[in-house]
Amino acid sequence: MDGWTREGYGGTGPGAITPDGCAVELYARLPAGDEPDVIQRAVPAGARILELGCGAGRVTHPLVERGFSVTAVDESPRMLERVRGARTVRSAIEELELDERFDVVLLGSFLVHAGDPEVRRGLLRTCRRHVADGGCVLIQREDEGRHEGLPRERRAGDGFVRVLSSDPVGPGVRSVHVEYVFPDARWTQTFLSRPLTAGAFELALGEAGLAVDAYLTGDRTWVRAVPVAGRP
Ligand SMILES: C[S@@+](CC[C@H](N)C(=O)[O-])C[C@H]1O[C@@H](n2cnc3c(N)ncnc32)[C@H](O)[C@@H]1O
Repeated sequence: MDGWTREGYGGTGPGAITPDGCAVELYARLPAGDEPDVIQRAVPAGARILELGCGAGRVTHPLVERGFSVTAVDESPRMLERVRGARTVRSAIEELELDERFDVVLLGSFLVHAGDPEVRRGLLRTCRRHVADGGCVLIQREDEGRHEGLPRERRAGDGFVRVLSSDPVGPGVRSVHVEYVFPDARWTQTFLSRPLTAGAFELALGEAGLAVDAYLTGDRTWVRAVPVAGRP
């Protein structure tokens, strides 16, 4: 463990586990998916990117290779040790106070679905606080039906990711249980997810002084938001 655990979150398996239950060794071996392509298409070449919740650099590294200048933030020092080619900052996202603004702020990995709405507000305020005028915030949100049709399995590198269950544990919040099975190791993660309809998501952005500019993918999971002028 990194020393503490967020309530409702946890993980098992070899190596260090982050406060939100992610296994460092697992994230260091998971390959990037289409995230770098989606991001590259949505922002100017060479942009300065603030990546929130970077993990072991799964998305950071392809972005650096593509010529972006990345500042990578995570609360887990064990994750940050794995990041190469980017400036790293250890902080809870919701408490981040950098004295600079970025062309692009990236909030991937469905972090916007934090179980605690106060944490979600903090994450989105951090996005707003760090985006330059004329810049944008890229957010990855859950697709509709994400919590249905379980268990569900997909390949990841030489292993499998299985979303085993998603159970309601309070008003509007679910506990999701995932296992990662590789030939030499098995990890699990349990985390909270607060599903958001498109309307609720846009309302949450609005509260933080952000507005949707475009849905970037056909499944509407990747969103480009822009700062609303005059809002904090
Ligand atoms: C699911 S992993 C994804 C990592 C990376 N974005 C990727 O796609 O490979 C989530 C990461 O976000 C970090 N994280 C989650 N919530 C956080 C918070 N509130 N503040 C800082 N880091 C956070 C965790 O420590 C973990 O490294």
